[in-house]
Amino acid sequence: MKTLYEVMDGGSGDAEKVRRAGEILKAGGLVAFPTETVYGLGGDALNPGSSRKIYAAKGRPSDNPLIVHICRVSDLERIAWDPDGRAALAAEAFWPGPLTMILKKKEAVPMETTGGLSTVAVRFPSHPVAQRLIDAAGGFVAAPSANTSGKPSPTSARFVAEDMDGKIDMILDGGDVGIGLESTIVDLTEKEPMILRPGYVTQEMLEKVLGRVSVDRTILDASSLVRPKAPGMKYRHYAPKGDLAVVEGEPEEVIKRINALCEEAGRQGKRTGVIATDETARLYHADSVKSVGSRQDEEAIAHSLYRILREFDDEGMQVMYSEAFSARGMGQAIMNRLLKAAGHHVITV
Ligand code: TXA
Ligand code: MG
Repeated sequence: MKTLYEVMDGGSGDAEKVRRAGEILKAGGLVAFPTETVYGLGGDALNPGSSRKIYAAKGRPSDNPLIVHICRVSDLERIAWDPDGRAALAAEAFWPGPLTMILKKKEAVPMETTGGLSTVAVRFPSHPVAQRLIDAAGGFVAAPSANTSGKPSPTSARFVAEDMDGKIDMILDGGDVGIGLESTIVDLTEKEPMILRPGYVTQEMLEKVLGRVSVDRTILDASSLVRPKAPGMKYRHYAPKGDLAVVEGEPEEVIKRINALCEEAGRQGKRTGVIATDETARLYHADSVKSVGSRQDEEAIAHSLYRILREFDDEGMQVMYSEAFSARGMGQAIMNRLLKAAGHHVITV
């Protein structure tokens, strides 16, 4: 299949590109598009054939449900139930934006889209290109992250092309995404809301609107005995090709240990990479040292993490070490993704 590549450049041609992309989705095809979190791989959420194609293009197990993206709060009631008004409250506070809600699904959503579940994940993204595309496609677009299953989610169209060229109908290039980590997922089907995947919208932010909110304890826990509630969180995910370990402890000790480990790996002829911060990057000795930004700036860290993991892949890094970050606030999302990328390999010094 030839994949069309269209750049949204803010010019007068953009409307026509979005219109064509919408036609592709309505006809059952697949289009990758930018959102404020990561790029999505879109198909018509109400067409079971489109969802099957999404699973095939990603190489994703079909029991791992897709998020349905909408472009109007009022469209929520066509696909999901909100028996206690909590979804409306959360929508008022956080939509459009990086929050996905799990709700009981209505008939209109096919089981192919929800991976056989009676619940559906719904999100109203804030990215203007995403909103225009969803509207042009008829209002309901199923979209997982636009990566091959198991790879880090794409934060720019070039990474989408790496994974999806030849497998989907079109890529809409809207530049680099803003946030860089996937949306927060909150389950609203139980009495107490539960965060199944941490993201930019934090537990504290949700609690201001919904009262007590719990966090699925598998989020930072390596225990494989407990099954996460979001099926996708059980897979080894966000993973680079080489071996990645997270080194935690006092900064000076971390730097010493990482340098020693890199020296050792280098002696074995392995290519080494370090995920550092602006404060520490110049203190490391490895084949490649990349800073995620200042340690104080969680938004910068979230923004750079997946890009750096992908760049290390492209550079053929075989052994990688990362500093650890605070797991509070948005740091919870950062550490969740980093620990998953590392297969929970943590070295404490
Ligand atoms: O930021 C995002 O959410 C991005 C952009 C494209 O919107 N999308 C995204 O989708 O990250 P995906 O498919 O890569 O991750 C969706 C996660 C998976 O872990 C899946 O298991 C979970 O949401 N999920 C979807 N529907 C669910 C449901 N009904 N119950 C529990 N978990 C669900
Ligand atoms: Mg994903």
